[in-house]
Amino acid sequence: MSDLNEVRNVRIVAVAGGSGFIGRAIVRRLAAIPTMKIRVLTRDPEKARARLADTDAVEFVAADVNDAARLAAAVAGADTIVNAVQFDGYPIENPARGLTFNRVDYGGTVALIAAAKAAGVNHFIYISGAAADERSPNPAFRAKGRAERALRDSGLTYTILRPSLVYGPEDRVVNGIAKALRITPIMVVPGSGRQLMRPLLVDDLAACVALAIGGRGRNGIFEIGGRDAMSFDDLVRLVMEIIGRRRPLVHVPEALLLIAGAVAEKLPGALFSRDAVAFLVADNDCDIKPLTAEFGLALTPARDGLAYLAQPVLASRGLGVSR
Ligand SMILES: NC(=O)c1ccc[n+]([C@@H]2O[C@H](COP(=O)([O-])OP(=O)(O)OC[C@H]3O[C@@H](n4cnc5c(N)ncnc54)[C@H](OP(=O)(O)O)[C@@H]3O)[C@@H](O)[C@H]2O)c1
Repeated sequence: MSDLNEVRNVRIVAVAGGSGFIGRAIVRRLAAIPTMKIRVLTRDPEKARARLADTDAVEFVAADVNDAARLAAAVAGADTIVNAVQFDGYPIENPARGLTFNRVDYGGTVALIAAAKAAGVNHFIYISGAAADERSPNPAFRAKGRAERALRDSGLTYTILRPSLVYGPEDRVVNGIAKALRITPIMVVPGSGRQLMRPLLVDDLAACVALAIGGRGRNGIFEIGGRDAMSFDDLVRLVMEIIGRRRPLVHVPEALLLIAGAVAEKLPGALFSRDAVAFLVADNDCDIKPLTAEFGLALTPARDGLAYLAQPVLASRGLGVSR
């Protein structure tokens, strides 16, 4: 991979959401490139610093994408912005606390774009999602589609990456599946289990971001997933095989989940919702041919990428830190 040479001119990369699961992988990857200075934009610099204690030469700057007035100062001097922000508790929205896809994912991206333009930032990389669609009835996919549209219309040079399900030692979903398989006699799967995805190792996504900073994929939208397409059930079976625990799969019909979502919406605390059901049962497959043609990336086979799950200590490493 030639990203070391290709990034020679870049000075500062500001990573919004750099303390999150995907953001941390991006920060670690970029911080290893000697010609780059990485700035993590975070609502809590001390907490973010603790989460990235293994990474040197990173600065932490207080910034909230919902506080537009302070964003321009936070991104001042940056050449590139990477937006990997998502609200706490996603995909379950909590409108009473302002935790919605529309406010944080779409509105936050719009605010970051404005700050980037005001600060003269050259390049904006947005971590979108495989199902992004500004006409989608689902607020998650609609917000990502609208954010993409705002970026494409902004006049900034952009790269939009649309990941399928992303996994790694610090993720929530796949580690959550492995944890459930270790402690429960059955494995509960939302919906039919036939929802499609291309699980993507987070390090491959981070490598792609480094290549984008180096010049690949300018003004392009790229779906990005792993090498292997599979259903949710296939993923669970692969995890079972890797960790050596066989459990019967119990599928909870979508209609039943929707009833649970409707009931939960009436209770305090934003525990579950019908939109979250739609998010969970949606297909998340993607076409990786344009990505591999443009970025020349050798994507990690799922069986290799998930091998860390065989070591329970490593596999549970991230459960305490990734929301
Ligand atoms: N994980 C996946 O499988 C996956 C798949 C496809 C797409 N994506 C997308 O990838 C992006 C990153 O996802 P992730 O899984 O890494 O999320 P995550 O672990 O929850 O991290 C999100 C980060 O956003 C920051 N944040 C939240 N609200 C903020 C605000 N108001 N202002 C500034 N920063 C804020 C938080 O940092 P602080 O607490 O430090 O402020 C947090 O560390 C999201 O857009 C997500 O939709 C994820």
